[in-house]
Amino acid sequence: MEEPNQNDQPTLSKSARKKLAKQQRQAERKAERKSQEKERKRKDLERRRREWEEKLSSAASEEERTRMIEERKETRKERMGKRAEERGMRAERLKKAKEIGQKVVIDLEFAELMTSNEIHSLVQQVMYCYAVNGRCASPAHLWLTGCTGEMETQLQKIPGFDKWIIEKEAKSYIEALQDQKENLVYLTADAETVLNELDPMKIYIIGGLVDRNRWKGITMKKANEQGIQSARLPIGNYLKMSSSQVLTVNQVVEILLKFLQTRDWKDAFFQVIPQRKRDEGKGDAETEETGDENAEDPAELVAADEDALEVEGADNLEIEEDADDDQDIDPFVKKKQRLEKSDNDAGRAIEEETNGMRNESQ
Ligand SMILES: C[S@@+](CC[C@H](N)C(=O)[O-])C[C@H]1O[C@@H](n2cnc3c(N)ncnc32)[C@H](O)[C@@H]1O
Repeated sequence: MEEPNQNDQPTLSKSARKKLAKQQRQAERKAERKSQEKERKRKDLERRRREWEEKLSSAASEEERTRMIEERKETRKERMGKRAEERGMRAERLKKAKEIGQKVVIDLEFAELMTSNEIHSLVQQVMYCYAVNGRCASPAHLWLTGCTGEMETQLQKIPGFDKWIIEKEAKSYIEALQDQKENLVYLTADAETVLNELDPMKIYIIGGLVDRNRWKGITMKKANEQGIQSARLPIGNYLKMSSSQVLTVNQVVEILLKFLQTRDWKDAFFQVIPQRKRDEGKGDAETEETGDENAEDPAELVAADEDALEVEGADNLEIEEDADDDQDIDPFVKKKQRLEKSDNDAGRAIEEETNGMRNESQ
């Protein structure tokens, strides 16, 4: 509730002020993290260049120097070849998934209900979903439906988005998949039906929404109005949550992917749901109330790491790291090493997420 002050300027209520202050603190922390990361990368690059130059200058002769340069060029070529091969294999898996993969839809029709930060956060989550799916031995057949307006504009800004091997559909899923209406199942934490199995004939829909559950029950209502089935993940059968059972889009996608691989819900939940969200004692009052789907924006942290993301066409994002001695280290390991130094919730969440992704690719 806003009250007018002496200057006729609206004064925010106490809770609105608290919320605003919290958002500002989060934005400041995020900006600080970004600039620290940028600085870390710069220093790292500088160090590697220095080390390489020192190594070169220690060469005993001109021949030795030439040999070192040639060797380095060769290693680089091999690395690039390996990456191209991996990309090719990923493209094959994703193409195959279009024919035989479990259909999973991300419903992008909620853009009007989100702030631009929330849309940004959702786009990062979609990027993350695409990257994780591409790493799976048997990926799902992903669909983005309702891909219009602001949502489309933001997605188009992702480098290489045009080349993604995914169904991009401007139409809503109900239109695009009208001939399969009886197979549509909206996944929503508010459903009565519990999802025990994944049926290859069904098409599972996930609400593309980052709303801190401000729009409570909106996907349940939508499914009911459209007369399609709904189901919730069987979280309660396997673990107790410290707050609600509403998960983020990327968490739900990852859980489905893990389940497709192992048919083990418990394993999928434990690998994907961050420890802090499980009821293991304490919890943060703020995140409990609102959910934490973009509290620290885990997807963004991973997505910001171009190496870890490895999406089609993201090559142009790659930083030239000519003097990179540890280039052959798996990007996830590198990310994990960095995160191990970090002491915040997001760090822990990503650590768990990247651990899961490591396991997946092994
Ligand atoms: C951040 S949630 C959106 C919450 C939103 N208020 C709603 O009513 O769906 C993103 C989406 O993930 C899926 N989801 C989240 N938690 C789920 C759960 N426990 N079971 C099934 N689906 C879930 C739903 O499709 C949901 O729309």
